[in-house]
Formats: sequence, structure tokens, C-alpha cells
Amino acid sequence: MKKNKQILLLFLLLIIQLNLIKTNIIYYDWTQEQILEETSGESRDYFGREVEICENYSIILSAQDKSHQNGEGILQVTGKAYIYQNNRTNWNQQQIIEINQNGTIFQGSVAINNDFAFFGSSLADVNNNTFQGEVYVFKNNGKDNFGATVAIYNDVLIVGSPQAAVGNNYTQGKVYVFKNNGTYWNQQQILIASDGKSNDNFGLSIAVYNDVLIVGSPQSAVGNNYTQGKVYVFKNNGSYWNQQQILISSDGQQDDTFGSSVGIEKNYSIIGASQATIGENFAQGKAYIFQNNGTYWNQQQILIASDGNEEDNFGVSSAISNGVVIVSADNSKVGNNYSQGKAYIFQSDGNYWNQIEILTSSDGNQGYYFGTSVSISENYIVVGAIGATVENTSDVGKAYIFQGFPGPNQVNIENCTSLYSSFECYWDQIGDLSTISYQINYHYYEENWIDINSPSLNDSILYEIFDSSNYPNIIGNVEYSIQIRACNISTNFCGAASSHWNLTTRIDSVKDLQLNPNQYYINISWSQPDVPVINLIPKLDHYVISYFNQSQTNLINNISVSNSSTSYQLSNLESLTLYTISIWACQTENCSGNEQGEIISQTTSTVFGPVTNFTCSTSNIYNLSCSWKPPTNSQLPNYYNFTIQSSQLNDYQNYSINSTILNTALLYSNMDYTITIKGCNNETGCGIISTIELKTTQLNASNINSWETGIEQIKLNISSVEFAKGYQITLNEGNEWKNFSQINSSGNNIYGEINNIAGNIEYNVEVRACSETSCNSILSGKPSNNITMKARLGYVEEFNCVGIIEGFECNWNELNLASGLNGYSISYYISKECLANDTTYFDVDDDLEGGVEYSVSIQAVTTTDCFPDEYSGPITTIKVTTQKKTVSNSSKNKGGIIAASIIVPLFVIGIFIGIFVYIKKRELKRRGYKELNLKNVKEPIFDDFLDSDDLHLNPNPKTNPNPNPNQHEDEKLIK
Ligand SMILES: *[C@@H]1O[C@H](CO)[C@@H](O)[C@H](O)[C@H]1NC(C)=O
Ligand SMILES: *[C@@H]1O[C@H](CO)[C@@H](O)[C@H](O)[C@H]1NC(C)=O
Ligand SMILES: *[C@@H]1O[C@H](CO)[C@@H](O)[C@H](O)[C@H]1NC(C)=O
Repeated sequence: MKKNKQILLLFLLLIIQLNLIKTNIIYYDWTQEQILEETSGESRDYFGREVEICENYSIILSAQDKSHQNGEGILQVTGKAYIYQNNRTNWNQQQIIEINQNGTIFQGSVAINNDFAFFGSSLADVNNNTFQGEVYVFKNNGKDNFGATVAIYNDVLIVGSPQAAVGNNYTQGKVYVFKNNGTYWNQQQILIASDGKSNDNFGLSIAVYNDVLIVGSPQSAVGNNYTQGKVYVFKNNGSYWNQQQILISSDGQQDDTFGSSVGIEKNYSIIGASQATIGENFAQGKAYIFQNNGTYWNQQQILIASDGNEEDNFGVSSAISNGVVIVSADNSKVGNNYSQGKAYIFQSDGNYWNQIEILTSSDGNQGYYFGTSVSISENYIVVGAIGATVENTSDVGKAYIFQGFPGPNQVNIENCTSLYSSFECYWDQIGDLSTISYQINYHYYEENWIDINSPSLNDSILYEIFDSSNYPNIIGNVEYSIQIRACNISTNFCGAASSHWNLTTRIDSVKDLQLNPNQYYINISWSQPDVPVINLIPKLDHYVISYFNQSQTNLINNISVSNSSTSYQLSNLESLTLYTISIWACQTENCSGNEQGEIISQTTSTVFGPVTNFTCSTSNIYNLSCSWKPPTNSQLPNYYNFTIQSSQLNDYQNYSINSTILNTALLYSNMDYTITIKGCNNETGCGIISTIELKTTQLNASNINSWETGIEQIKLNISSVEFAKGYQITLNEGNEWKNFSQINSSGNNIYGEINNIAGNIEYNVEVRACSETSCNSILSGKPSNNITMKARLGYVEEFNCVGIIEGFECNWNELNLASGLNGYSISYYISKECLANDTTYFDVDDDLEGGVEYSVSIQAVTTTDCFPDEYSGPITTIKVTTQKKTVSNSSKNKGGIIAASIIVPLFVIGIFIGIFVYIKKRELKRRGYKELNLKNVKEPIFDDFLDSDDLHLNPNPKTNPNPNPNQHEDEKLIK
């Protein structure tokens, strides 16, 4: 191994990577393969401070700080570079290079490519030397012919010196570029940030890929945010590196340290911001993916650890290779172990970077700082852990090698063909169908991988076939970019995507095509084909309508219609003739080949013209007669389609008729009917409709001839109406009209009853004849004379009396007929009393003979003085037996005085209406009772209260020749 050595300022270094463009295999399932350790390591060796891996070589730097052992206070630091080589099964230590320099703080970096290994060390030289650091370059002189042909950028060495002063700006930082002339490395250029300031630490992280160099400056202020950090992009123009762009994070905050680590490959860059705060979590850390669009780098995605926590320092180190990004968080907690450290693997699906794995060390422990440094090359990752304990000695450090395993192979698309609103692709079958599934990504404005459901396998050529017609979101007239990839069914891990296949689908067919034929023309209507929301390529230009007469099978015409049209009329056609009509959309004026949209065709026939001499009439309201003559077409219809429809009834009658006359009897009175007819045959269907509007006659008014008043009941005598099939009584109570249809008819005498209505209330009553037995307001005729009438009050409910000593007590329910009810009349066989209508209790105490059965009656009346009239309710009578007194006669007299003293004040305040005492002398004599003698006795105003004959009432005897015969209803005796 030949050693080239050049002395430099303080540094960090990273170097050109090989231009690794190989088969696009993606690695996953990263597994710890080996732990690298120093032989006889010592505490504070910090093995793993920097790691680098490239192909079969890995270099691990240690930086042994021995200053604490030096009694004279002289800084003494030893660094070592351990070179390992992979022999396919093992990483074997190949060489140890010691870098021993008093006064050197070894915090350098390492980079390797095929030929060279570079180690940087930093120096805080007390002599203020111009050179404040070293870079050690080792050339591999192994068996291979290394070094003879190095890629154009591979002979460039770039060294960061983040603490270099620039002018008066201490610690602004510089980057040195060296070029190898075959033997020596000569300094070629010094790069300085265009907007650098003191303490920026420009150069603290560096990464190069081809002609692009990115330099982290994590201490840079952005606006007023100190230490937010910036990353500078330099581009090589063939001779020199020029600053091209300054990258700043979209969501940057003070102290993020954006640029704490950087990595680059092809058009992706990974940038750590290890001190970034996330939510409340200070220094949890973030990483950013930037993507190059050919000219500029744009932030594509922010990576955040799925399980991140405060002070994880996610982003302290990062690297990218072959579509895999590794970002470490060396201070993160694992289980209960603080600062054990983790590293996160992210993988690109071509659009989005997904966290796929979290790496930890198999023997990790508290304070290991796994992830101090990371490096990735193809299928190997190396992770440094400077705090690792070796053989009970802490802070010796270890490095861990992880190996990734290849995912399914990259799919190769053989062919994709555009159809109208779909496409079809063929690709090489990959692996065993039982372990491999496929995903497709087709897009015109957004990308999304979707599972291909059961592609069909073409056995003869072993191609998979995908037919997108099952994917309805694929539309015509769109340029799609198609990629397919294979995925492992058990791990869900997908291999590299195929290269893009671009095609433009053809315009869809028009939608909702409808043909409406007439006698000599056909109306065509349709709606536009589905078109993409954006990026219509090219615009829909016009439609073509083509039609031919089927019997002639000749194209009659191709008609061009504007692209905004959605209807057209084909006119001057033959009647009763079949036509086939096709329509398609066009992308261009010429409209040929792929510019022609999908054709859609329908066949229809022109139809019969209208019938002639169409007339209809009604002989009575029910009977319809119509007649007509055939249409003027050369052929006669096979049948006529005849409909009768009433909009009021939502009624529809349909007839197929062979003759030219229709007689039917299905109409109702007072209805608007629409009667239509059209000529039809089985080939061309039905033709043009002829219509007649007809209104049927309304039924005449009935007449209310007489009526009767019953108990909560009104009875009507109604005269019949010609053609009527039913009658309807309408009763208005207050403002509400109620319908009653309890009608009995015999001959011309029609009786209607309205039952269970409130008594003593005036009702307006009307009657209508109906053209249906089930009358309703639509079907009814003209209204009858309007009569006002009342029903009688009903029975007093729950009337109950019990005997007490020389008296009795009665209770009943208050009548729930407040309107017009003024009082109750209650009687017992020797007296009669008028009570207020809210009274529900009555007693006679101490005034009657004990041990005697009395009849007690009650009746609801309409008058305040309890004179019964024709609307008074029926009488309820019950028997009650008074109890005998068991003491002397003196208390009986006392009771009379008490009764009088209650009655008189009640009378005075007017609530008590009156007391009526009537002595039925015959009864008295028979039962041997004496007459009561009370003050304020009124003479009887109406006749014997119990005489039910007088309760048969007729409000209008002149017009009511049939008084109510149901006299028994007027009295109820309860035993
Ligand atoms: C690789 O190295 C290991 C450890 O030194 C050794 O056991 C193994 O035989 C080597 N394999 C090959 C293929 O050389
Ligand atoms: C570093 O200093 C120590 C102590 O002063 C001395 O023993 C050692 O030789 C020196 N090493 C070098 C490389 O100068
Ligand atoms: C080295 O530089 C520092 C800062 O400029 C200065 O303070 C110091 O005196 C210098 N030392 C020597 C030995 O020149």
C-alpha cells in the first residue's frame, strides 16, 4: 500500500464515491452480520468515530484521546484507521494504520473509493500553523489494476475544514479540493460559502456524487434563526466547482443544525438536522430528502423517526445508496437504555420514502451511541458506536456490519398498448407466482402504486399480461406513465420498479347515447366522454355522426358536430325504416387512426305518424268512447297503444287495441283526463302520439232533507244523486272539517249518521255524492245545502251513589264537554237540585229517613237553571238505600241547621244556582216519608224530571217527519 500524504487545516472529509450504476436491485431485510472491534482496545479509543464502506472495503477510524494521561498537559491524541476486507463470508481486518500526532484532535473523517482510502485528522496546533490538520491518503496497490482509469471526478479529493477562519470570520469554514495527478494530490480550489459568517462551520459535512458537491453548514443562521443551518450545492463545470444553490429546510427553526450530516446519490440528497425540535421534543431531529429536477434541488420529503423522542439526535449521521437512506439517532433510548442509539432505514418507492426498518445492535447497551457514524454501499451498511464497551472497558467503541438481501428482480416491460379508456401491458414473468405479486403505477398527475389483481400469464411466451379495463379510473385521451414492479408476497417488499413506459390512451366513447325516432327524423343525444381534469392531450375537437339505412347497408352520411354539442337531429329520413347510427369523438380535425375515439353504435327505426280523426266523448261521467283512423304511413299499424291518465288521481290505464274504436267505463267525475294513442308494430315499435284532453262532469249536489238530533249523534236524511256510488258527510267542528261516510241507503232514502260527537255544539254539515264508494274529496260531487245542527249531550259517566245515615252521597265524572254545558241536574225522588257543571259530588245528609231505598237521577243539561231542553243529556238513575240513625232525634235537627248554613252562603255568591224541592206525594205516601221544608225553594219550571217521553226532541219538526224512535236510550237505570 502506497501512502500519499498531504497536510491540511482542520477537516472533515468525504470523498467521491464510485459511480455505482449496476443492476437496479433493492436491498432490504437488513441483518447484523458482524461486529468489528479493536484488538486490545482501550477506554476512550472511540473506535467507530467515523466509518466508511465501499464495495469490499470498510474503514473504521478510532481517535484515542490520551491527553488525560499526559501529566504535562500536552494534548496527545492517537488515531488509527482499521481497514477491513470482505471475503464474501467475513469482514477481515486487513491493516491498521496509526496516525500519531501530538496536539492532534482526531475527529476526522474517512472516505474510500476503489483506489484510495482517505483519513482526515484535525489539529489544534498551538503554533498557529497554516496547516491545521492532515489528510492521509492510502493507495491500494493490491493485485487489481487500481488507479489506471479513474472516472473524471474520481480523481478529486475534497476536504472540509469547518473551523477555518475566512478573513476575520473565525470558524466560518472552508472546503479544499485536491486533484490527483497520478502521483500527488494537488490543491486545486478552495470553496467558501457565498454568504458565510463567523461560526458557520461550513464543511462540517460533505458529500459528492459525480459533478455535484454538497457541503453542510449546520451552524449557519437563517434570517434571525441562529444555528438553523444551511447546505450549499456546488457543481463542477469541468474545471471548477461553482456554488449553485443554497438549500434551506421548509420548516426550519432556530438550532435545527440542518446540514449536521449530508449524503448524495444520483438526484437524491439526504440532509440531517439532528437538533430539530418536533412538537415538544427538543433535539429529536429530522432529516430531509432533496430531489434534483434536472436544474434545482427541491425538498421532497421530511423524514421523522416513527418512534422518535426528545434528544434522539435523529440525523446526526446519514447516508444514501441505491434507493436506500440510513439516518441514525445515536442518542436514542432502546428499551430502558439511554443513548444506546438506533439507525433507521428508509426506502423509496419511486415517489415516497418509507421507513422500512429500525437497526439496533445485537449487544447494545446504555451509552453505546450506536449510530455515531453510518455508511452504506449497495448491500452493506456499517454503523459506528463509539461508546461501546469491550471486555468490561467502556468507551472503546465498536462498529457493526449489516447486510441487506435483494428484493424481487426488476420488472422489464416488454410492451404496453393503448386502448380507448384502458391499456394492456406485457412484462417478463419474475420468479414463482406463489411468492411474487405485481404492482403497477400509472399516472398523469399523481403517482400511486396499486396491486395488480391476478394478471394473466401467457404460457407460450411466459409474459404476464395486465389489462387495465378492470381499473375504472383509467380514462381516455390521457398520457400515462406506467411502471410495474414485483413484490414478495410474504414480506410485502417490492423490487425495483421497471423503467417508465409512456402511452396515451384514446378518447372514450360518448356516454348516455340515446336515439329518439320520429316519423321522418331521429333525435340523437349524448354526453361527453370522460375527460381528464388536467393535461388533456390534445383537446377534443369534434364528434362524427355516421348513419346508414340498414336495408341498403350504405353509408348515407358522415356529419361533423361541434365538440360542445350533445344533441343532433338526423332529418329527411324514410318512415318505418331501420337506421344504424354511430358516433365517435375526435382529437383532431382530420380524425384518423389513434386520434379517433371509440365508436359506439345503435340501431333504431323511424316510426308511425300520428293517427287521424282522433275524437273522444263521455256518454255519462263513467263511459268513454273514442275513435280514430290509421296514420298516413304506407303500412297499417299492427295495434294501437292507448292510455288514459288523470293527473289528479295519479291513475294510469293502458290498452293495446286492434280496432280503431275504444269504449271503456272507468272514469271518475270531475277529473281532467289525458287520452293518448299511437300506432305500433313489432318491428319499429310505437309511433307518434296523438293526445286529447277531456274533463268529466261533476256529480250534482245532493240535498239534506231532514235531520234528527240524538245522544251525541246527528242523523241525516239525504236525497240520492244520479250516477253516485257513495256519499260523504262533511262536518265542521270549529274550523276543522271532518269526513264521515256512514251512509245507509235504501232506494231514494239515504240515511247518514254521525256518532260520538260532542253534544250541544253547533256543527255545519254538508253532503257530497261521490263517483266511488270510498269517497274522497277528489272524487266527490258538488256540495249539498249547508245545515247547522247540534247533538244532545251524553250520559253523565261513572254516576255512583252510596247510602249514609239518613242520606246518601253521589259522585260522577265531570263531563268533558266544556263548551255550551252549563250545569247538571240531579234529583232524588223527593227533590231536585241544579249544580254547576264542574261539580262532581252531591250529598243529602241527615234529612232523609234511614233504611229506605231512594231513586237518584242525574242529567247533564245545557241551561244554567237546569231546565232541560232538547239538547239535554239522557237521565241516569240509580237506587240507593239510606242508613238508619242509631242515636236520638236531636242530632237530626242539628244536621238540618248545618245544611242550611252551607247552602245559604253558596247561593249568595251565585255559584249555587238553585235548590228545587219537589215532592212526589204519591211516592212519599207510599214510602211514608215527610216533606222537606227549606228556604229559597223554587217552583218547578219543567215537568217531571224523570219523564223520558218529553226528552224525545225534534229541532225542526216541519222538516223532520221521522222523530227518533229510540226512546229507551234516554234513561239508564243502574242497579
Ligand atoms: C473468509 O474469512 C474467514 C475468517 O477469516 C475464513 O474463515 C473464511 O474461510 C474466509 N472465506 C473465504 C471464502 O476465503
Ligand atoms: C508526543 O509526546 C509524548 C510526551 O511528550 C512523547 O513521549 C511522544 O514521543 C510524542 N510523540 C510524537 C509523535 O512526537
Ligand atoms: C495564535 O493565534 C491566536 C488567535 O489569533 C493568538 O491569540 C495567539 O497569540 C497566536 N499564537 C501564536 C503563538 O502566534
